Amino acid sequence: MMSRTNVKHERRGDPACVVVPPARPASTLAQEARAGLLRAPRQLPPKYFYDAYGSALFDRICDQPEYYPTRTESRLLERHARDIVAMVRPRSVIEFGSGMPRKIRYLLDACEATGCAPGYCPFDVCHEVLVNAGRMLTDDYPWLEVLALVGDYGAGLAHLPPVRSPALYIFLGSTIGNFAHADAVAFLREVRGTMCAGDHLLLGADRVKDPQVLHAAYNDAEGLTAEFNVNLLRVLNRELGADFDIEGFRHYACYNAPACQVEMYLIAATAQDVDLTALGQRVHFEEGAHILTEISRKFTRATLEALLAEAGFTVVRHLQDDCAWFSLVLARVH
Ligand code: SAH
Ligand code: AVI
Repeated sequence: MMSRTNVKHERRGDPACVVVPPARPASTLAQEARAGLLRAPRQLPPKYFYDAYGSALFDRICDQPEYYPTRTESRLLERHARDIVAMVRPRSVIEFGSGMPRKIRYLLDACEATGCAPGYCPFDVCHEVLVNAGRMLTDDYPWLEVLALVGDYGAGLAHLPPVRSPALYIFLGSTIGNFAHADAVAFLREVRGTMCAGDHLLLGADRVKDPQVLHAAYNDAEGLTAEFNVNLLRVLNRELGADFDIEGFRHYACYNAPACQVEMYLIAATAQDVDLTALGQRVHFEEGAHILTEISRKFTRATLEALLAEAGFTVVRHLQDDCAWFSLVLARVH
């Protein structure tokens, strides 16, 4: 299917796994914590949510009744996967931020039904999720060749292994909404730069809607989103030898309507001093001090299409559900 340099076969039955090296100098967690925690406004990149536990929590969030994006996008895929596959006839599918294999199944089922057998390259920062996803998919689709790519897609795509064209690049779940506008444009331009004529991008993006619906989606009654958010502190405690008092921070998520984005924060419930051993620093968090842990941008049809145009894409199909809660856009290079 593609170059096998660096392929590590981990055990019989596990997917082949390639580490995608950063294409440009990438910051470490320690550097990002230094930049993001030692001065205001405090913030951390959301990729650190996704250790094995964080990935499992996100998968459970997807099943919460309040978290409509997963089921809405899944229904769109269920309805349109055959048309998409018929248009692209992919020989490779490359999925950024693939997570657990839920939605890819609609595309693989459509491939199976139409006699198309692409190779599949899930690309994710979480190694555990890739191994689990690869095992599940090769059990359910014995014909499927999976090459799992472990790495940070924010560190450049120049070292992606070559794939067969026509390729379908997919980026689902509205993970594009976790990028600030300029970063989203830069990332999509990089994706476009790896694409050949005849390749397509399938992008899932969440839409602007009633703020109460958004508020509920990021404040589920079971408290899984809160647990997912707070898990970031566990990651810092483990990876940086920090001693955050997990109970001393609260999850807070709100919709910033002028910015069209949900913002997720960790807020110190009481004052605390935290040792960040790996940084050789002690940091004071006053009561109410907040760390921005994620933005989740929401798009209108127009802002989404403008983003794709700015990144050099032409929209081929813009699919949406009846309530216009979620968009699935098939695009090709200009
Ligand atoms: N695509 C899935 C999962 C979305 S959750 C869905 O639609 O439900 C976001 C996924 O992106 C997680 O699996 C996370 O591990 C991955 N991710 C986040 N930041 C990443 C990065 N910088 N590089 C690679 N993967 C990343
Ligand atoms: C992965 N990403 C698109 C999710 C979102 O909705 O922004 C992550 C998430 N954060 C809280 N709940 C889900």
